[in-house]
Amino acid sequence: MAIVETRKITKEFDGGAVKVVKDIDIKTVDGEFLVLLGPSGCGKTTLLRMIGGLEHPTSGQILIADQVVNHLPPRARQIAMVFQSYALYPHMNVKGNIAFPLKAANIDKEEQKRRVDWAAGILGIDHLLDRKPRQLSGGQRQRVALARALVREPNVFLLDEPLSNLDAQRRASARDELQRFQHEIGTTTIYVTHDQVEAMGMGHRIAVIEGGTVRQIGTPRDIYEDPADTFVATFLGSPPMNLIPRGDELIGFRPENFHLAPDGGVDSSTSLSFKLTSIREEYLGSEKLVYGELEGERTVARMAANADVPAAEGGEVTLFVDNADLRVFDRESGLRKESAPATIATGSGS
Ligand SMILES: Nc1ncnc2c1ncn2[C@@H]1O[C@H](COP(=O)(O)OP(=O)(O)OP(=O)(O)O)[C@@H](O)[C@H]1O
Ligand SMILES: [Mg+2]
Repeated sequence: MAIVETRKITKEFDGGAVKVVKDIDIKTVDGEFLVLLGPSGCGKTTLLRMIGGLEHPTSGQILIADQVVNHLPPRARQIAMVFQSYALYPHMNVKGNIAFPLKAANIDKEEQKRRVDWAAGILGIDHLLDRKPRQLSGGQRQRVALARALVREPNVFLLDEPLSNLDAQRRASARDELQRFQHEIGTTTIYVTHDQVEAMGMGHRIAVIEGGTVRQIGTPRDIYEDPADTFVATFLGSPPMNLIPRGDELIGFRPENFHLAPDGGVDSSTSLSFKLTSIREEYLGSEKLVYGELEGERTVARMAANADVPAAEGGEVTLFVDNADLRVFDRESGLRKESAPATIATGSGS
């Protein structure tokens, strides 16, 4: 087990013409499950490949267990990597595939068998050892690829969207399995995904990456409730955080922070009220999403399915948000401000 750290790590391609990773500082906790989350092209795979030694950083340092490893080839880093396009050897059975890296490292037969049985047991594929890859489902193949990485008893796991070729249902169960397995073996894991549900559900912490830089790193709750900027605020959450411009600020709140104003009116000292003009609603069973316009901005409210909100287009409803749920961002930079919204301070709310 080991701590992985990057110090001001940068990667440029084409002689500096494209900078895809910019001064990234990340430090895991030992045994942590750290998720790198960000949109396509933001530099996640490049960062992971540098940690794994498949790509050389243009500048900056990579440390594993407190040792600088920049000069070490991948096999000397005690790391196991599983990529989206993991390839199993089609002519070998599952046992042969899992044992392959051990054979290559001249590990004796008995030890090979012990480790293959152990990894197959953890991943629940012990009954498949004699099958060929083509006789397996996508999820089973995925587990074979993980077992093959696991037998090397790595200090660190680097996983790059390993579940992306599974269908939604298998993905959910594979997510659960993978997390349980990581918890069991306690190996520091860096997991890349562009799927926020996967990130929120699996990560001890999430590093949100955009344009080659880390926008925020924190627990799923930190990132969701206290986003550092408007990119993070709108990248996580479905639908995303509502943002209403006022003066040189943006007031942000989650769709679920809207409440129906009671008949007696809203306490303006503890909350901010808004008039929402509804445009359409989406019924989701236990709840509904009301899409509307608020101060000229497209806005979404998540309400109980039976909430008394006008469904017809153009219907108006007064909603309020508790002050504690309001987040304020600088309109120009998008960065979070610590202050209360100016609208509350000046009392010009509702
Ligand atoms: N060898 C290369 N030469 C030039 N540009 C590259 C090279 N490898 C990657 N890039 C560019 O670097 C950027 C980041 O790529 P990277 O694969 O790290 O993104 P990603 O976050 O993993 O995206 P995705 O979610 O689509 O996998 C992209 O714009 C990509 O085109
Ligand atoms: Mg990628």
